[in-house]
Amino acid sequence: MIDPYRPGRAVISEIIEENQRIKTFVLEPLEAWPAASDQATTSAYQPGQFVMVSVPHCGEAPISLASSPQEPKLRLSVLKVGLLTSALHRLPVGAEVGLRGPYGRPFPMAALKGRRLVFVAGGIGLAPLRSVLESCLARPDDFGPLTLLYGSRTPDDIAFSADLARWQAGRQVDCRLTVDQGGPGWNGAVGLVSDLLADLQLEPEQSSVLICGPPPMIRAVCRQAAQAGVAPEQIITTLERQMKCGLGLCRHCHLDHHLVCVDGPVYTLAQLRQLEIMELG
Ligand SMILES: Cc1cc2nc3c(=O)[nH]c(=O)nc-3n(C[C@H](O)[C@H](O)[C@H](O)COP(=O)(O)OP(=O)(O)OC[C@H]3O[C@@H](n4cnc5c(N)ncnc54)[C@H](O)[C@@H]3O)c2cc1C
Ligand code: FES
Repeated sequence: MIDPYRPGRAVISEIIEENQRIKTFVLEPLEAWPAASDQATTSAYQPGQFVMVSVPHCGEAPISLASSPQEPKLRLSVLKVGLLTSALHRLPVGAEVGLRGPYGRPFPMAALKGRRLVFVAGGIGLAPLRSVLESCLARPDDFGPLTLLYGSRTPDDIAFSADLARWQAGRQVDCRLTVDQGGPGWNGAVGLVSDLLADLQLEPEQSSVLICGPPPMIRAVCRQAAQAGVAPEQIITTLERQMKCGLGLCRHCHLDHHLVCVDGPVYTLAQLRQLEIMELG
């Protein structure tokens, strides 16, 4: 019988320094992944799902899959905040990590087909949305226009610069950036990412808004999108809770009567309103 807590081994094949606090780890599974499959594969997950990443003797943390299922290697983008994420940041190329998963309910990709997609991300929140974006770009005929509104604290905090440059150069994604605080050489927008949404000519009936970032940003953008006339079922976000098992067993991630690791982390505004956990507009 497969032990659900036993992590599979993966090796770090590349590290991208996104900014001073965020690194992207490109990983290659060394054994069957997910554990239930019979060969090492990177395509057995969906955008919005996460893995439990472990570093020996340091513990585990839930991290979103930032790669799309169509990409050849797994990518995890990690903000350094505490014990496990700092340990990950110290690892070199060639080091091994443990992976459990994938876990959680993904973004509803089939239901998003044909729609105009507006991605609204703050900081590291672009990680799970990158997975959706790359998945859409791999199937361009399936989706309408793609817009990304991306907010960072300062110009130095902008992460995923190589992705942003590629998406902009190919005119594949209408990328609009903003920072809370400008600085020398910054000629772009200064202000909240929710202000960028207010400036956008949304066609609310054709649009879906996908959001990931800090909770106050999620609340502001949900409210803004709802006020613009986007249906609550088409405003979709992903929530963070502290997690232990990731499997629906320990109840560490409970929220009202939900377990975010299995019932989430992806929720529509309509679902969140039923949970009555946030004043979401
Ligand atoms: C489904 C899901 C997906 C995630 N995806 C990513 C991702 O792609 N990239 C990324 O960098 N992070 C992601 N996170 C957050 C990440 O799991 C935490 O930052 C990580 O667990 C911190 O572990 P640590 O040992 O480094 O910090 P710790 O030493 O455990 O804690 C450091 C500080 O951070 C706080 N903290 C720890 N975990 C969380 C949390 N989940 N939410 C809020 N505060 C927390 C602690 O209370 C403490 O103040 C995700 C979380 C979830 C639930
Ligand atoms: S993390 Fe254990 S039930 Fe969700």
